[in-house]
Amino acid sequence: MTDLVTHEVLFTAHTDGRDLALSEIEVALPGTVHRGWLAPDVGWVTLAGGWPDLVTRFTQRPPIFCRHICPAHVRIPLVQADGDLDALVCESGSLAGLLGPEPFSVQTRLLGSGWPYGPFDVNTRLAEVFARRGAPVDVRHPVQVVSVVLAPDEAFLGVSRAIDNLSDWAGGARRFRRDPDQISRAEFKLLEALEVFALDPPAEGLVLDLGAAPGGWTRVMRSFGAAVVAVDPADLAPALARDPGVRHVRALAQDYLPTEQQRFSAIVNDMRMDARDSARLMGMAAQSLDPVGWAVMTLKLPKERTAQVLSAALTLLRRHTVVTGVRQLFHNRSEVTVAMRSRSACRPANGG
Ligand SMILES: C[S@@+](CC[C@H](N)C(=O)[O-])C[C@H]1O[C@@H](n2cnc3c(N)ncnc32)[C@H](O)[C@@H]1O
Repeated sequence: MTDLVTHEVLFTAHTDGRDLALSEIEVALPGTVHRGWLAPDVGWVTLAGGWPDLVTRFTQRPPIFCRHICPAHVRIPLVQADGDLDALVCESGSLAGLLGPEPFSVQTRLLGSGWPYGPFDVNTRLAEVFARRGAPVDVRHPVQVVSVVLAPDEAFLGVSRAIDNLSDWAGGARRFRRDPDQISRAEFKLLEALEVFALDPPAEGLVLDLGAAPGGWTRVMRSFGAAVVAVDPADLAPALARDPGVRHVRALAQDYLPTEQQRFSAIVNDMRMDARDSARLMGMAAQSLDPVGWAVMTLKLPKERTAQVLSAALTLLRRHTVVTGVRQLFHNRSEVTVAMRSRSACRPANGG
């Protein structure tokens, strides 16, 4: 019989942040048992509580390193042959009662290689079964998700609200199409941050980009319309060097910031340096942030004492900004992305 309040949960995280992701779940629900890693970036836990308890705890205190979570209401043995699809169709019937009338999608992940079928085959077969309950399929904006994770010898299937999974994307893997004019892969990090933190890039005014070279983030911000002050001792890509909307300040941020007189609608910072040093410089830059502006930065994390360094950097940032989000995004490597607002936006109009 299907256990509606399942205790089995799969989560994804970067391999270098996966132990921190696991401890986020263990702290949320002490007594949770780690069942193992189904893949280097996919963990399995049996919760000391139900799936709704984890969702509640994560809503109260959003995780940083857990990229995606999903419940596993049923587990089905697999033999890695075409017959698996019939078994999935047959067994998933017990899950159909968990699906409400809202739009849904089936998100399938195949762990490992050598599968005789692909995610699309599984999605198509299962979507047919679930759609018979009357809910429409909506792959782009599902309200509910049927998560299907195929590990070599068993499948994990669960139904949840998309919003509870921490990401709308299967396993939290947000992929973007490569733009032919793309300057650096770092662009994906900024695009993902804008989406995850729901930030509106300014169409006019000025943006400050600290650690701008070769210019991917500058290009992304320019594409929305605002002019960019790009600070970096290194060269920018030739296309940006020719752009009259880009002012390249060939200097270190610590030398440039004390001289800055302008107001910025947004500040982005991807400087490769110790997280605490970058946070200190961001605090200085935040004095020039428009009261309704926002800032985004990456914090590069060391392999050792990761949590302590992150905590120290966030404390420094909170002195000068309001931190509105911290996540290790799909496109981050050994770093997390932080979203902030100006502190002055939160002060009463009389400045008291
Ligand atoms: C990861 S790259 C930035 C990539 C950029 N966001 C993009 O999309 O192309 C890091 C940059 O930080 C710059 N950097 C490191 N220390 C800096 C400092 N003190 N001031 C300014 N830039 C710095 C480096 O020169 C390097 O170009």
